[in-house]
Amino acid sequence: MNQDQLKRAVAEAAAAYIAPKLESDTIVGVGTGSTANLFIDCLAELKGKFDGTVASSEASAERLKAHGIPVYDLNAVDDVLVYVDGADETDAHLALIKGGGAALTREKIVAAVAQEFVCIADESKWVPVLGNFPLPVEVIPMARSHVARELVKLGGDPVYRQGVVTDNGNAILDVHNLQIRTPIALEEQINNIVGVVTNGLFAARNADVLLLGGANGVETIR
Ligand code: 5RP
Repeated sequence: MNQDQLKRAVAEAAAAYIAPKLESDTIVGVGTGSTANLFIDCLAELKGKFDGTVASSEASAERLKAHGIPVYDLNAVDDVLVYVDGADETDAHLALIKGGGAALTREKIVAAVAQEFVCIADESKWVPVLGNFPLPVEVIPMARSHVARELVKLGGDPVYRQGVVTDNGNAILDVHNLQIRTPIALEEQINNIVGVVTNGLFAARNADVLLLGGANGVETIR
């Protein structure tokens, strides 16, 4: 199977995983990216078996609405049963790098609210140590240079993602050349830099379940 087929396989696996949990009042959290898009298409098959969704980006909200799936403001819901999203990298502890699609902040918020975080990824995302994928950091625009200097002090090489404005109106710095051996500590350290909105390490709140697509099918890892 090629990468697109693996993404489709994990999207279908995620729909099958959540289907028995759905009730008429269930809210499903929906992530962002090409794998999450395939999940949205599978979720459309389950329409009517749950109440609606909260989306981690404007792009995902549009795709959900195009399928006729209700999308709620997160402030309007009491509970998110499950959050399904892709990742740029995952390690064996299911700590993730996310934000390749610049949606990291809303993704982290929905993941924080959700009872269960199901990550869906093809095997190219599985790494022994996080950091080969440049770590996205969302910053308040006026703080971009300050934050970049602080990230250099932490050993990274930040690069401004030119031309990208997040759904929250902010900028993205992609931090290259990090070998992230203590992801929870680094997540906290970067978030403590003034001007950072959040960073793409999902380690303090990692995934609960990983559906990983590879040559031998979809593996469930907890
Ligand atoms: C978007 C994300 C995505 O989950 C991540 O970039 C993976 O994307 P894809 O499924 O297209 O490989 O974090 O901000």
